[in-house]
Amino acid sequence: MAVSVVLGLQWGDEGKGKIVDYYSASADVVVRATGGNNAGHTVVIGDKTYKLHLLPSGLFQDNKTGVLGNGMVIDLQVLCKELAEFEARSNGSKVFISGKAHVIMPWHKHFDAAGETASGIKKIGTTGRGIGPCYEAKANRSSAIRFYDLTSGERFEKKVQEVYNLLKPRFEQTGFTLSVAQILAELEPLREKLAPFVIDSTNFLLNCAESGKEILIEGAQGALLDFDHGTFPFVTSSNPTIGGAFTGTGLPHSGVEKVIGVTKAYTTRVGSGPFPTKLIDADGDYLQSKGAEFGTTTGRKRDCGWLDVVALRYAVKINGVSELALTKLDVLGGLEKIKVATSYALPNGSVTSDFPEDTAVLAGVEPVYAEFNGWGNESLLPEWEKLPVNARSYVGEIEKLAGVPVKLVSVGPERTQTIAL
Ligand code: GDP
Ligand code: IMO
Ligand code: MG
Repeated sequence: MAVSVVLGLQWGDEGKGKIVDYYSASADVVVRATGGNNAGHTVVIGDKTYKLHLLPSGLFQDNKTGVLGNGMVIDLQVLCKELAEFEARSNGSKVFISGKAHVIMPWHKHFDAAGETASGIKKIGTTGRGIGPCYEAKANRSSAIRFYDLTSGERFEKKVQEVYNLLKPRFEQTGFTLSVAQILAELEPLREKLAPFVIDSTNFLLNCAESGKEILIEGAQGALLDFDHGTFPFVTSSNPTIGGAFTGTGLPHSGVEKVIGVTKAYTTRVGSGPFPTKLIDADGDYLQSKGAEFGTTTGRKRDCGWLDVVALRYAVKINGVSELALTKLDVLGGLEKIKVATSYALPNGSVTSDFPEDTAVLAGVEPVYAEFNGWGNESLLPEWEKLPVNARSYVGEIEKLAGVPVKLVSVGPERTQTIAL
């Protein structure tokens, strides 16, 4: 089996879309394993920018097979829109959806918004796409609706009615007012469009792998947003770490050849929660503006800060990352000094190089920085030898500090602004 996995190592938006597009050139099948349209993955080809929320980013390459894996939660409307754009490109690529993937229903989006505004609750700053409530339904089982339930109109209607009856008390409590008839009127045409795409995805992927096809698993979100290993409760409701790649597809760990971890050359975060290296100064503004750090999904401004190697090492270890793809190196150009957090000072005066698992402890740490000389603000050519010497030495330092080789350096958003090492 030849399976590669691309995972985000920070709080999402590391540039996974660009990196997946790059590696998809040599893959046959590209699979999204987790998350839903809380993800926003960008691929830039020439002067065209594409933003995907659900479809795998490998589909801009010709003659690929894309699979929306069983670990995903899917908004029917968003998927239909992306599919229409994808079909218009007709580049020989095709798409399938796992029957085991879960459907985001209108009430999930309502519950998401209601949860964020409820008094006395700490705002997580979700994307508002109904992700948490849909995974909540998956976990409780009784109110879950899967893509298999979409395979006939009759089955879907029965399922919606059943779940609707079950959730009535919660609808009344939270002010959800749509009727079953209204919901079905909205969703039935979408169901009809999507039903032919539904497959037994795990058997399909296993057969692909066994017949020698190269499979690339596209991670969404990032390690620090992981439901188990991230900065809980300021996380998403799935496992963007390596385990999610397996449970979200059914592919076995033994088939994995490479785990490619994607990290920016600095750090960003959207939503609430601790962010030790966050900058509230001119350098932070510089990164935000030069890096065009606005959320791909919600348009919110991303907070920016220095690269945090304490967090990066943690993400490398829990994912078993074999190599790094370092993105947005170009954005650091023009800064006189560049800092990297190598350990954390704790309020009791001790210093740790372990990423604290308790979010309350993380919120109280002070980063201890190493400082490097910057380089000029000129645009960077995608050739290693032509990078400024300080840019090359920064990449070398990250490699040493992270403990895994950097195999790809991205120096701009466009597909060709990429250096393979
Ligand atoms: P993803 O969620 O991990 O796929 O990342 P996003 O697409 O949400 O955000 C990454 C942003 O950075 C997108 O706008 C990309 O086009 C852009 N990007 C990716 N790599 C680079 C790079 O090396 N340099 C610059 N300047 N932008 C990049
Ligand atoms: P990609 O795949 C960045 C963040 C939200 C919020 C938290 C929970 O583009 O890297 P949710 O809607 O999932 O319940 O929100 O997670 N978040 C992301 N941040 N990139 C993402 O995806 C994200 N997906 C979720 O901002 O803090
Ligand atoms: Mg994104």
